[in-house]
Amino acid sequence: MCGIVGYTGTENPIPILIDGLKRLEYRGYDSAGLALMNKSGEIKVFKTKGKVADLEKLIENKEWDAVAGIAHTRWATHGAPNTINAHPHVSGSGDLVLVHNGIIENYSILKEALIQKGYHFKSETDTEVLVNFIEDVKKESGKNLFESVQLALKRVVGAYAIVVMDKNFPGQMVVARKGSPLVVGIGKDGDYIIASDAAPIVSHTKTVYYLDEDELALLEPGKEMMVKTLDNKLVTPSLTELDLTIEQLEKEGFEHFMLKEIYEQPRSVYDSMRGRINAEKKQIKLGGIESYENHILESDRIIMVGCGTSWHAGLVGEYLFEELARIPVETEYGSEFRYRNPIIKPRDVVIGISQSGETADTLAALRLAKEKGALLLGICNVVGSSIARETHAGVYTHAGPEIGVASTKAFTAQVTVLTLMALRLGYLKGTIPQERYENLLQELENVPDKIEQVLQKDLIIQQVAREYKNAKNFLYLGRGINFPVALEGALKLKEISYIHAEGYPAAEMKHGPIALIDENMPVVVIATKKGNYDKIVSNIMEIKARDGKIIAIVTEGDQQVAGLADHVIEIPESDEMLTPLLATIPLQLLAYHIAVMLGRDVDKPRNLAKSVTVE
Ligand code: G6P
Repeated sequence: MCGIVGYTGTENPIPILIDGLKRLEYRGYDSAGLALMNKSGEIKVFKTKGKVADLEKLIENKEWDAVAGIAHTRWATHGAPNTINAHPHVSGSGDLVLVHNGIIENYSILKEALIQKGYHFKSETDTEVLVNFIEDVKKESGKNLFESVQLALKRVVGAYAIVVMDKNFPGQMVVARKGSPLVVGIGKDGDYIIASDAAPIVSHTKTVYYLDEDELALLEPGKEMMVKTLDNKLVTPSLTELDLTIEQLEKEGFEHFMLKEIYEQPRSVYDSMRGRINAEKKQIKLGGIESYENHILESDRIIMVGCGTSWHAGLVGEYLFEELARIPVETEYGSEFRYRNPIIKPRDVVIGISQSGETADTLAALRLAKEKGALLLGICNVVGSSIARETHAGVYTHAGPEIGVASTKAFTAQVTVLTLMALRLGYLKGTIPQERYENLLQELENVPDKIEQVLQKDLIIQQVAREYKNAKNFLYLGRGINFPVALEGALKLKEISYIHAEGYPAAEMKHGPIALIDENMPVVVIATKKGNYDKIVSNIMEIKARDGKIIAIVTEGDQQVAGLADHVIEIPESDEMLTPLLATIPLQLLAYHIAVMLGRDVDKPRNLAKSVTVE
């Protein structure tokens, strides 16, 4: 949700900032802008509504001997997505320039006070208020930029990651974070590159510092970084070496990141199990939570918390944990959980599921559960992210960077990790018969190959996409552990194609959605062999009796559903508990192809952002 980049050093900042923004564009693409400063402290700002490509055109051939620059790609919160509201924002005197990711909640009170003092505002943003507030504090206190930012932020309520420059100190930058991520890359030549995540940094340096909550840093080329807390405690930063390659951030010949990420799933599922599963020795080892296993086994219940696709993974986890480990599970939206005064006891375990590890509602829900004494576990993809750091323990998904806004490989990696956890706990608890446990381990190891086989059905899926691309609505049905897969399939379609789609438990169809079924309604049914098969066959009959069009995901060799459905997409046979890992793939591809055929911007669907750091 908004991406920020900054550079100060000896290189030309423009290409670094533009390239950085492109890598962060998944965080928002309503507008883009950059501010440059030369060694005399002159500031130039370029900004535009639209995407980074529009900004790039705007600054074409605009060479300038800048020594530092900051840039921003916006997902609008306060104020319309237009050029005036685009970042960077400059203070009234023209001295300070700032980019911001987050929301300043008390901005209207601050704005009112500043207006009383004679400040004027051009935009509707909370960010313009913040830059002027810092300026005002600086003027009144007579402090330097770092201290003024520190003082000002103590009076700010909300979430922020900011980078500020002051024309009186060319090359110097002050960065700060609370609630929104910020990474400082430390270059070999004493230069600094700052960004919302590591993607813009990795081509310059692999040495980074993940700024912690309530920390500020002063960056000056050639000088050591100074990090302090808002309360002015000096921090010795512990630096991290990035385990990320440029190739992971490129499309590598695929038309879209989403397609690349769908095709990466044999690998990402494998990577999420690698080193953790040994089918020969019949063992699962999850180092991250090993020392908490007894605590989990003794818990009264597990609460899964997530948003969007990660919430769907949590729902799959609920079926897995209850079936295999016989531990009661509830799955909650972060946003609902945090605001309804939930009953949480110290014997509860809360598992936060998040690709980015930064989703504001999930993070807030976890913090609330921590206050109430629960054990927190994280399932995150982004190493070093806020959720990964604030939970007591966790298991990373190792899916690699996910760039497409619609989550694909992160979902299957989350489900893989949840399967491993449920199996491990079930094994320790003795709730899975030994033979089933061993079969499941073996089957899990076979999943990457089976995903590969599903990907080979792409042409069939493209034909189905062609036939139904103009449908106005879609219904997705599944039962049991494949009910959340139906929800996820519907979400994928609406996110990227803008076709209305709903997921339902198949049996619930009779309680409403059946009224919508006619010859124009495609219904995608997950009808794999073991999952309440007979019941789902009856549901298919009911759809057929009303002329609905049936697209069925079936187990290889299925004859019965094949005889009823308009289209079948086969997936290899597997244990029922593992079918979500296979059944999800054709639904991702179906959504992808429909969206491409409709000319949608698949990797950057309208109004969405990949990392939602505001509530
Ligand atoms: C946004 C993204 C979704 C994602 C959700 C939760 O809505 O567009 O793809 O599932 O946030 O994100 P998280 O990073 O917490 O998994």
